Parts: sequence; C-alpha cells; structure tokens
Amino acid sequence: MTTDTLHEQKILILDFGSQYTQNIARKVRESQVYCEIHPCTLSFDKIKAFNAKGIILSGGPASVLEEDALLCDRELFGLKIPILGICYGMQLITHILGGKVDPSTHREFGRAELMLKEFSHLFEEVNNNSTVWMSHGDRISKLPNGFKGIAFTGNSPLAAIENPVAQIYGLQFHPEVVHTTDGTKILNNFLFKICQCARNWKMDSLVEHMIQDIRNKVGDSKVVCGLSGGVDSSVAAVLIHKAIGDNLYCLFIDNGLLRSGEKDKVESTFRDNFSINLDVIDASDKFLGKLKGITDPEQKRKSIGNTFIEVFEEESKRLGDFTFLAQGTLYPDVIESVSFKGGPSAVIKSHHNVGGLPEKMRLKLLEPFRELFKDEVRVLGREMGMPDEIINRQPFPGPGLAIRILGEVTPERLEILCAADKIILQEIKTAGLYNSLWQSFAVLLPIKTVGVMGDARTYEDVIAIRAVTSTDGMTADWAHLPYELLGKFSNRIINEVHGVNRVVYDISSKPPGTIEWE
Ligand code: XMP
Repeated sequence: MTTDTLHEQKILILDFGSQYTQNIARKVRESQVYCEIHPCTLSFDKIKAFNAKGIILSGGPASVLEEDALLCDRELFGLKIPILGICYGMQLITHILGGKVDPSTHREFGRAELMLKEFSHLFEEVNNNSTVWMSHGDRISKLPNGFKGIAFTGNSPLAAIENPVAQIYGLQFHPEVVHTTDGTKILNNFLFKICQCARNWKMDSLVEHMIQDIRNKVGDSKVVCGLSGGVDSSVAAVLIHKAIGDNLYCLFIDNGLLRSGEKDKVESTFRDNFSINLDVIDASDKFLGKLKGITDPEQKRKSIGNTFIEVFEEESKRLGDFTFLAQGTLYPDVIESVSFKGGPSAVIKSHHNVGGLPEKMRLKLLEPFRELFKDEVRVLGREMGMPDEIINRQPFPGPGLAIRILGEVTPERLEILCAADKIILQEIKTAGLYNSLWQSFAVLLPIKTVGVMGDARTYEDVIAIRAVTSTDGMTADWAHLPYELLGKFSNRIINEVHGVNRVVYDISSKPPGTIEWE
C-alpha cells in the first residue's frame, strides 16, 4: 500500500533488539510523524533510499564489545541525516566513531534523576532533575571527537551526548518508556526541533488515502472478508466497504464457540447499521461434531483451524468469484525485527487465523493495516463513526470458548461456560472496568468438587475467573480486582448457573502463565 504524500516526512528506526523498539515507533506516530522499524541489518543502499528525515538507533540486549555484536554501517553517520541513538544505540555511535565503551561491573537498572549540563535542542523545555529510566551495563569512558556530554545522572556521567554540528545525539536512558517523565518532550525535540519534521500523520487524512489505495488496488474485483467481530477485521470491513461498496462480501462463521449474544451483535452492527453484504453461516454442528472426544489443547486448535478453512472455502465459493481476501493484519505482525524474530508465542500455542487460505483459494491478500498499530486502527474506526462497543472490544481468540473449556467441549459444558462468562462481563461492565482490562472471562475446569447447598451434598463444576491487564498480550498481569466484585461473581455464578458450586480467581501473570488456559 502506498500513502506516499503522508510518508514524505518519515523517521527510520533501526532495531537492535530492544524490547522497547515498538514503543519508540508508537511514540513517534503519536506525535503524528510516520515511521518504520527495520532490522539493524538493513543495507546501506536501502537506508539511503528510505530518505528519512531522521534515524533512531534503538536499544538492544547485547554489548557493542561482543565479538559478533550487531553494528551499523559507518557511512550512516555521513548521510547528514540527524541521528538519535538510544542506550545500545548511543554506545554504538561512540564505538563506531572512535570513542571508548567499557564493560561495567554492575548494570544500572531503573529510575535515575537527569541533571542537565549544557544547552541542547534535545532538552528544550525539559525539566532539570526529571526522572529517566535506565537499563544498561556498559558505559562510555571516552567520547568520539566532536561530541560533548549534555546531561548526567548519579551513576552515569555521560547520560546524554551530542555532536550538534553533525546532528548526532545519544541517550543512555530510554525516552520511549512511561517512567521517563519528559521522554515525549525529548523525542519531540528530536522530531521537530532537530529533524524539522511536520506533523502530517493524521488519521482523518489517512482514511481518505487508504480508501483511494484500496480502490486503485482492487478496481472492479470482488473482495471476501472473514468477519470475526473483533476490532481489526471489523474496522477493515468498514474501511473496505467505504472504498468498494457492494463488491465487498463479509462472511461471519458461527462456530458454536462464541460468547453469548455475539452472533446477533455482529449481524445487527454490520448488516443493519453499516449495510455491508454479510452472510452469517451457522456451522456450529460441524465444528462441535469434529471436536467430539478431543481433550488435547493443540488438537482442539488444529481441528477448529482446519474446519474454519474448510467452511470458509466452501461458503465463499458459493458467494461468488473473489480475487482478494481481506485481513486485518497489523504492523507488529509484519515487522521483521531483531527482537521479534521467532517470538515465543508462535511455538507455545498454534494460533488460529486464516493462514493457508489465500494459497488454497488462490486469493490475493488485501491487508490495509499492515502499516498500523492497534491503537491507530482504533482511531481509524472512530474516525469512520464506528461505535465504541466495537472499537474498545477486548480481544477474543479465534478458537473461541473451546480453549476455555478444559477437557471435552460438549453442548452442555458450553452452556455452563456461556452463562458464567455472561455474568462476568455484565459485572465487569457495571463496575466500569471493561476498558481498563485487556481481557476478562470465565474458564470451565475439568474437575468437579464437593460442596453443600441447602442441606444436601453437591458434586459439581468449578469456574475459574481470568482478568488481566496488558498492553499487547505478550506479557500480562492478573488484575487486582476489588474483593467486592470477586464476591459478586462468585455469588451470582453459583446461584444462577446450574451445575457450578465453586468459583476461583486466577492470580498468575504472563509469563509464566499464558492468558488463555489452553
Ligand atoms: P495467550 O493465551 O497466548 O494469549 O497468552 C495471548 C493473546 O492472544 C489471544 N489468543 C488468540 N487469538 N487466535 C487468536 O486470534 C488464537 O488462537 C489465540 N490464542 C490466544 C488471547 O486471547 C490473548 O489475547
């Protein structure tokens, strides 16, 4: 996709493997400047061709002193493009330009106070003694020629350096994390005072550009889109519909593993409110039939994934002749970055998406959000008038409730889980906590426990409640929900859901737990 005019003022972020590289990109985009993350191994020719207004060298877990350290081309510093090195990036600048980096006996990790020493455009309007977030081992013992120290902390005499003539800057701390109180100001100074960028990455102009791009790419061809009810595919459907109208067909496959009321909500939103061509396929018997007798989590996922592809192929063939398959793929999924190479989630659980479909059906892919972060997709959706109810949705996994029913998935067990899950969602919403939680849901355990109701012994199911906070689902913390709310869950579920006599709360973070139980 090309949104060329919006891309004229772009920043290149070279990734050396820091866990914060995506934060840098999000911060730059929040300041309405377009940027892209590329691996630090990007060739010098490609870097030149990128034509950036500024280059940011990210942090990284390694040491520039290691034998096989990730380096960058020395010629980068002769491009006359402003450069900002963060943490590892700053040590790299020093190392390559003839300064000296020494190994440190102890790591400096956590908060520090930044003392400003010299005037620098990088620190305009930044407060003296502001808090910064450090995370480094090595330190600089000799600066390269032309550089000077512009700030220090208790432990780092060279917490920030610059060569104002060459417009090369280095920060030992991380301006891109929330704990660095003036971090946004510092990054903005780099973008606007040093790189002279314009704020032109705006969602309203982006909608128009994207619509035009989709029209150019698709022409009169037909597009099929698998609607899941989640944020990404929903916003993609609305955007593509704005571009090509009735040449878009959406398929919503009810796999029988949805939350209570989900199917009706999707149907009314898209068909009634947005007048989008929508086919709702009830394939629940097929999915549940194939799941019969399966208890292994991976087998469940594979069964659901395969059935989805089978049903989708069959139904879309019935609907017409399609050239494109639309997907809500996001930028984090396509970044070929050092830190994400072989990320652990891929091997821990096989994620269910429409993988395999495009090749099988010989469809071209239409992925309008390949350059966007999830927060940007949300802004885009709001910009197009989509209701908060869809935009702020908590994520819901493709294999649905099947991976929240431990053991065999049967209609009876689905009914129990749906009823308990509905209560949890209602109470979370009533407590005003829905938007602040990444996810909140019920899990049905494969054991029964003894209880007493009235004067009689019971031997019934256990429901576990899972509620987590997270920014990207990669790591998560269990939500510290009020005791009163936990009490309400327990009372209502045990009283209202037939067959449950015990409710427990999951207090595991990720890692070591995962968010879903299977
Ligand atoms: P885990 O359980 O791996 O989940 O900590 C991380 C996030 O991913 C969601 N999830 C999935 N989403 N297909 C999806 O579309 C899947 O197969 C799948 N498995 C987990 C999960 O809900 C959480 O937000």
